[in-house]
Amino acid sequence: MNWENKVINSINDGIMVVDTNLTIIFANKAVDSIGLSNKKIIGENVFDIFPNLAKNNSTFIHALKTKKEIINQQQTFVTYRGERTTTLTSTFPIIDDGIVVGAFEIFQDVSALQKIKDQLIDLQLQNTEHPPKMKNDVSKSQEEFRDFIGEDESIQNIKNNIKLFAKTPSPLFIYGETGTGKEVIVQNIHRASRTQGPLITQNCAAIPDNLLESFLFGTVKGGFTGAVDKEGLFEFANGGILFLDEINSLSMNLQAKLLRVLQDQKVRRVGGTKEIPVSVKIISATNIHPIELLENKEMREDLFYRLNVLYLELPPLRSRKEDIPLLIEHFISEYNVKLKKSIKGITEEALAYLMDHSWPGNIRELKNMIERLMNLVQSDYIGKSDIEFSDYLHVISPNYAQGDFFRKKNTKVNFKEEIQRIERKMIMDSLYETKGNISQAARNLDLPQQSLSNKIKKYNLEPEIIRIKLLKYE
Ligand SMILES: Nc1ncnc2c1ncn2[C@@H]1O[C@H](COP(=O)(O)OP(=O)(O)OP(=O)(O)O)[C@@H](O)[C@H]1O
Ligand SMILES: [Mg+2]
Repeated sequence: MNWENKVINSINDGIMVVDTNLTIIFANKAVDSIGLSNKKIIGENVFDIFPNLAKNNSTFIHALKTKKEIINQQQTFVTYRGERTTTLTSTFPIIDDGIVVGAFEIFQDVSALQKIKDQLIDLQLQNTEHPPKMKNDVSKSQEEFRDFIGEDESIQNIKNNIKLFAKTPSPLFIYGETGTGKEVIVQNIHRASRTQGPLITQNCAAIPDNLLESFLFGTVKGGFTGAVDKEGLFEFANGGILFLDEINSLSMNLQAKLLRVLQDQKVRRVGGTKEIPVSVKIISATNIHPIELLENKEMREDLFYRLNVLYLELPPLRSRKEDIPLLIEHFISEYNVKLKKSIKGITEEALAYLMDHSWPGNIRELKNMIERLMNLVQSDYIGKSDIEFSDYLHVISPNYAQGDFFRKKNTKVNFKEEIQRIERKMIMDSLYETKGNISQAARNLDLPQQSLSNKIKKYNLEPEIIRIKLLKYE
């Protein structure tokens, strides 16, 4: 044995080389890790060695045809000895003078890892129940959602649309920044719909991909190690609504699978073969604008068009500031009950102060702030000093607190101060939006990072940045 062969045979990764007829012309010793003998397979055809390999997903064929490499593809197959094996494989074409003469694969046996992963998924599945919420079981939290407060024209339109959207089984896509009330809308649609079916909610960003796949489509016993027969959310939601929140977090793989279910109106449980018919109204939501999702290829276009038969966009609070007083009033009465208080309202001065804020966390932020103030306030009315004391909107300098809504007419304006006020406010808004990320804020403002840092120093905004970073919206 020459030294090159010695080196190649001492590598732990399996190496296999084929010619253009897919005949194996070389294999190192490590192929025994997937149940093969390198001596026996040389001269054999790949499809004889892997009888279960389908021609349309053979990585060798792909590399030979496209002249492109495929890196770290996970493959699960049964060897000719009947052993189920999972490998992480990279495949490369061999090109000589521009002509493809063969291909080679380097693979690692990851069966043991895969087994642990399967067991982990199964454990998580067993510990996570999805009791379907039935419509007639109106829980307390659902009661709370009854009011969708707002008189702005955009909100009136949305309220009218809710009635129409509730009547149809067609899918609905909702876009709205965080805290704009997407979940409230879905609850209201469910309530207004004639269906007696359940509303099932799944946040697609909350759990890892293969666990989500098992959740959505269910599993069958033996589908993978330790798997049990379990219905998925599609089956649970049958006859009702399945709300897929943060749909943009779905991997491309799951997006393809979801598309198939929507097209066929049938699900196949993970590891199963039976097709189960389902009739589910799908509502999906994101807090990233769909145009951005499509442009950045975060979402398959075909899936988007399938989900986006009906569309609803929730406006950010800053674009309907006239609703702020209404919302404040609503939350004050809500927390009067919850906190056993009898606060009568908010002073005009305090309201003006709040109107000037940009509310990046939207209604959720406003609601949290009212809860916080209601805990602090000593008198009958929430005053400006309570807000200052709570330090919540410290970002707004008291000198410039009069918002557009309550701005007094004929007030003398100092040009330099006004420019500084605007500059400071733009910087603060951007820091809020980026959750205190200076380089991102600089990019959004189209400023060099250094000049933004200088301005942050000039306005003494460092403590605010720390506060923003600590600020949690629920
Ligand atoms: N129009 C409204 N009237 C009264 N309360 C509202 C309204 N919209 C939202 N809320 C309240 O604001 C909070 C946030 O709403 P919700 O959870 O529906 O937002 P979301 O858009 O789903 O946010 P995220 O994208 O972060 O999940 C909830 O407590 C909700 O009750
Ligand atoms: Mg939500």
